[in-house]
Amino acid sequence: MKKLSNWKTPLTGLAILTLIVTLAMPVSAKTWKVAVGDAANSAQHEMGKKFAEALESKTDGKYKVNLFLNGQLGSEQDTVNDCSMGTLDFSLLAINNITPFSPTVGSLSLPYVIQSLEEAEQLTQGEVGKELAANTIRDAGVRILGWTYTGFRVLTNSKRPVKTLEDLKGLVIRVPKNAIMIDSYKAWGINPTPMAWSETFTALQQKVVDGQDNPFLTVHSMKFYEIQKYITTIRYIFSLEPLIVSEGLFQDQSKEMQAILIEAGKEATLHSAAHLRASEDAIKKDLVDKGMVIDEAADGEKEWIEKATKAVWPKYYDSIGGKDKLEKILNTLGRSI
Ligand code: MLT
Repeated sequence: MKKLSNWKTPLTGLAILTLIVTLAMPVSAKTWKVAVGDAANSAQHEMGKKFAEALESKTDGKYKVNLFLNGQLGSEQDTVNDCSMGTLDFSLLAINNITPFSPTVGSLSLPYVIQSLEEAEQLTQGEVGKELAANTIRDAGVRILGWTYTGFRVLTNSKRPVKTLEDLKGLVIRVPKNAIMIDSYKAWGINPTPMAWSETFTALQQKVVDGQDNPFLTVHSMKFYEIQKYITTIRYIFSLEPLIVSEGLFQDQSKEMQAILIEAGKEATLHSAAHLRASEDAIKKDLVDKGMVIDEAADGEKEWIEKATKAVWPKYYDSIGGKDKLEKILNTLGRSI
């Protein structure tokens, strides 16, 4: 019977030539996609660039990532679903857009829990961060590899200076589709408008909404100064913007590659904190130079703090895993409920 193939057949001259040419060709790098919710020069972009650089250098250029800015790959909440299903590799997004999929991370965006960058670093890089990262794998099928630190979310609007809760009345404020943030504004006496981040600029521009909150760095990189005039420096949420990877993708990697991804995420995290420290004051000044007016919330923000913590914290004890979870977080920071 005629054999269909014979592995012992000696290589022909042509086959040898093909093999040599193939081996001599540069191996093309494996390239992953990273969705980035924010614009160029944002804190998320800075984080993404550092992660890309660390990954490339640790793998001698064999692994790269492409950053897709401005929500090109979908709304931030959609990217969590896509990473979870394995149709997207990585995403950089605000933590409040992960909370609907993994409610325990809401503990870090309860109003007035985190009071400084140092506290944000302490929590995210310590035991609390580890536990929340494990929970997001369990709940949402995504792994937090690193944390972007973007600063406190400040309130912006196009209508008038806001210092008191009385001033806030009557303004239409956009918030992410995040129950904790919606309830914070309700505690302050208004009904906010939940809306995807990708629709926010246009809604502000077309005056469908009067205002929104996000950190100085985001207000600047998104060019909100072109469509918003007033800023109030409330400090209710310190914005954390995790870099997440599809857990399926992570598990498909060798142990060595997994360690590289984790290391690259840590390097990018440290870089992000340094970037915030180095840039926030200059960005704030530039926003004023561009015509924005910055006000402090009246009376050390007392009324805002009291109303939000009293109404919102107890409502979320169950979803964050119990009152003792919040107690543990605050104890880590030397405070208590
Ligand atoms: C949001 O407001 O939805 C997010 O904070 C946007 C962002 O990722 O900067």
